[in-house]
Amino acid sequence: MAGLRIEGVSKSFGRQRVLKGIDLSVADQEFVVFVGPSGCGKSTLLRIIAGLEEHEDGQVFLDDTDITDFQPADRGVAMVFQSYALFPHMTVAGNMSFGLRLSGTPTAEIRQRVEKAARILQIDDLLDRKPRQLSGGQRQRVAIGRAIVRQPKIFLFDEPLSNLDAALRVEMRIELARLRDELRTTMIYVTHDQVEAMTLADRIVILHQGRIEQIGTPLDVYRSPQTQFVAEFIGSPKMNIVEGTLHSAGASGGQVVAFGHPVAMARSGADGSAVRVGVRPERIRLGAAGEFPIPATVRFAEHLGSHLIAHVEAGGAGQRRQLCQVAMDGEYDLPNGTSVSLDFPADAIHLFDEQGRVIPTAA
Ligand SMILES: Nc1ncnc2c1ncn2[C@@H]1O[C@H](COP(=O)(O)OP(=O)(O)OP(=O)(O)O)[C@@H](O)[C@H]1O
Ligand SMILES: [Mg+2]
Repeated sequence: MAGLRIEGVSKSFGRQRVLKGIDLSVADQEFVVFVGPSGCGKSTLLRIIAGLEEHEDGQVFLDDTDITDFQPADRGVAMVFQSYALFPHMTVAGNMSFGLRLSGTPTAEIRQRVEKAARILQIDDLLDRKPRQLSGGQRQRVAIGRAIVRQPKIFLFDEPLSNLDAALRVEMRIELARLRDELRTTMIYVTHDQVEAMTLADRIVILHQGRIEQIGTPLDVYRSPQTQFVAEFIGSPKMNIVEGTLHSAGASGGQVVAFGHPVAMARSGADGSAVRVGVRPERIRLGAAGEFPIPATVRFAEHLGSHLIAHVEAGGAGQRRQLCQVAMDGEYDLPNGTSVSLDFPADAIHLFDEQGRVIPTAA
């Protein structure tokens, strides 16, 4: 059992408040991913959990033990950094066993733990090499191996794959998923990569300006973002946000009007109130001019082989024209300037108020 609980953690660097009262519970064996824009405090929070950074307010609990004032080495927490931080003059085995030797673990046990970790990570034939004789992916495995041999209660990963090329990232991502299943240890993982977050996480924590904006399963945060920030942050390409107005339509509910086109909603708002209408690029339907209600013009199309992303300017005569992205499966010929039309399906619409908070669309 190794659950983690963070209560009211705040941190400032000088006059800058970087973390503003973070509350979070991570269950035993859970894989939690932190995402958020650069500078939002992800690494700082991870370092506080590891005991590498002091903070002014709040507590960190591991299995109900308050570890707030524990030294890093006494916490049962191991951290893997983006820069692998291997000792260049030591072999792979030397790097992996360094911490254990320092803490006086018996030699036989060290050898056994290193061999076991090397086997799990499939680096058993590299144990005598120096870091410079390894590829980036192999170095990253050694860094992970160094954490595994300590048999921590919790693993913390700070963007461990961001220095790897695209193909290796995919490979290592699959390795990490396997590792998670094999080790069955609680893990907290920071990444900028949407695919890593969506595929590895049991739950995603979206941080924004030092606060937790939303916590949920990957599908939960994708399907039901609670704020415009989360809506635009999760999903790629990001959700389109256009201006609209909300209208009452009797007892049955209401409608939202975007580009002069009404879409029925179960909820109604104050008549004529301005709202932000969100639709994911993959949910917009695009057809020939006149096929769908919203007229649009292709500005340019990104052809990606398996799919394409059309950047269109939507809006008819007398309407404010707004840019939208439409993601479409397959390949179509869409020269710049082509007149097309769009449909925003009712069940694809997200509504946000002027402060960016969700307006529930279901009754
Ligand atoms: N040692 C430090 N001294 C002063 N300010 C710091 C220090 N470490 C971090 N900060 C500031 O704290 C804020 C949060 O930094 P942090 O490294 O936690 O962000 P992050 O979310 O990990 O960003 P990134 O995605 O770029 O890694 C940033 O504004 C950063 O400049
Ligand atoms: Mg960081």
